[in-house]
Amino acid sequence: MSFGVYFHIPYCLQRCHYCDFATYEIDTILPPADYLQLVKKEMKLRAPAIPYKNIDSIYFGGGTPSLLKPDNIVSLIKELANLGFKFNPNIEITMEINPGTNFNTNIDGFIAGGINRFSVGAQSFNDQQLSACGRKHTANETHQTLGLLKKNKLNFTLDILFALPNQSLYDVSDDVEKALSYSPKHISAYCLTVPEGHKMSTNRAVDSIQVEMFDLIESKLKQNNLNKYEISNFCNPGFESIHNMIYWKDQPYWGIGLSAHSYFPSQSLRFWNPKSIGEYKNLINNTERSILNLNKISSHLKPRNFEFLQLHEVMTDYCHIHLRTMQGLPKEALRNRFSKEQIYLIESRLTLLEQQGLIKQCNSFWSLTKSGALVSNVVFDKLYFSATDLPSKSDFSTL
Ligand SMILES: C[S@@+](CC[C@H](N)C(=O)[O-])C[C@H]1O[C@@H](n2cnc3c(N)ncnc32)[C@H](O)[C@@H]1O
Ligand code: SF4
Repeated sequence: MSFGVYFHIPYCLQRCHYCDFATYEIDTILPPADYLQLVKKEMKLRAPAIPYKNIDSIYFGGGTPSLLKPDNIVSLIKELANLGFKFNPNIEITMEINPGTNFNTNIDGFIAGGINRFSVGAQSFNDQQLSACGRKHTANETHQTLGLLKKNKLNFTLDILFALPNQSLYDVSDDVEKALSYSPKHISAYCLTVPEGHKMSTNRAVDSIQVEMFDLIESKLKQNNLNKYEISNFCNPGFESIHNMIYWKDQPYWGIGLSAHSYFPSQSLRFWNPKSIGEYKNLINNTERSILNLNKISSHLKPRNFEFLQLHEVMTDYCHIHLRTMQGLPKEALRNRFSKEQIYLIESRLTLLEQQGLIKQCNSFWSLTKSGALVSNVVFDKLYFSATDLPSKSDFSTL
């Protein structure tokens, strides 16, 4: 079992046009020092209820954590220790960094404070594309950040966006080549996702070209020993992100700060903080009593901010998260987790998807085919289970 902690840092230099994360331009909300006070109070209030004390991964995401000073970030790690949490000797501590955020001045402080993995939001190495995305940094600043990480022999990953408006196969190839020139051990490649009608939803490559873009990325990365281990994630063997694997292997995590999500499978509990800074601030400022037991989460959060998962939701989540990984859904784990009738229901849906060429199976696993991975949302839609799908109440007993 692994346990992870996520801190959300909701500040950005600018709001990128495509972004749907809970973040604000830095001067438009309370100053970071005040936000960190709220976060620390939240930690104190909830820590007594957290059933795991040994941490395998800490992740500072956002937002733009690299806008904060090293002392600020490190103070959150120290607060975990003050609250009695222990750090696994091989703990992975990741921080997202954006080019153009004074990282070169602060890098030593972050390293000294324990950050041992950096995730660079490169997105593209083309200035026109960066500007069309609404990003403030230039490709040159990304080169500087990556150069610094490489020079210091640090463990880093970078994010690339593809299928951007007016982006050609050649442009994607160029972005990947530039990323590879820094020999990263890990890369995430995301296909731009924006709703219909969004200003970035036009002039994009047609579906078949988007498929070619992804194939090109995958094959170039493979040539560099960066193997796909999840729909959008590639790494050298042994460099899988512990943080990601906690999400995809049904392991517990505690999310702290604005909009952060937590999951405790043994309690079948998910909870999440409000997405609006005003609501988050009120929630934390107006709570004085610590929560001692996760089953009492309702004394602390509004009903719309938590759910005790019902069986059909557990089945849905279990299929979705495992199928995101290259290994897939382990048949043995299904047998241990669900009753025969429940497995029959899951496997009959998987078999239909297999007949459509979207799912494949071997002796031990069900997994997405290449075509299935390209339309994973369609596959996941077919693997939504509702309460009325369930065979009968008596089958609930195995959970
Ligand atoms: C939580 S964001 C924060 C990273 C960092 N603030 C940055 O933008 O460089 C993590 C990654 O999600 C990806 N992402 C954000 N919005 C997206 C979207 N609409 N479609 C696809 N990927 C997206 C980007 O590649 C981004 O680097
Ligand atoms: S910098 Fe990252 S988190 Fe901030 S708005 Fe842009 S994509 Fe979103």
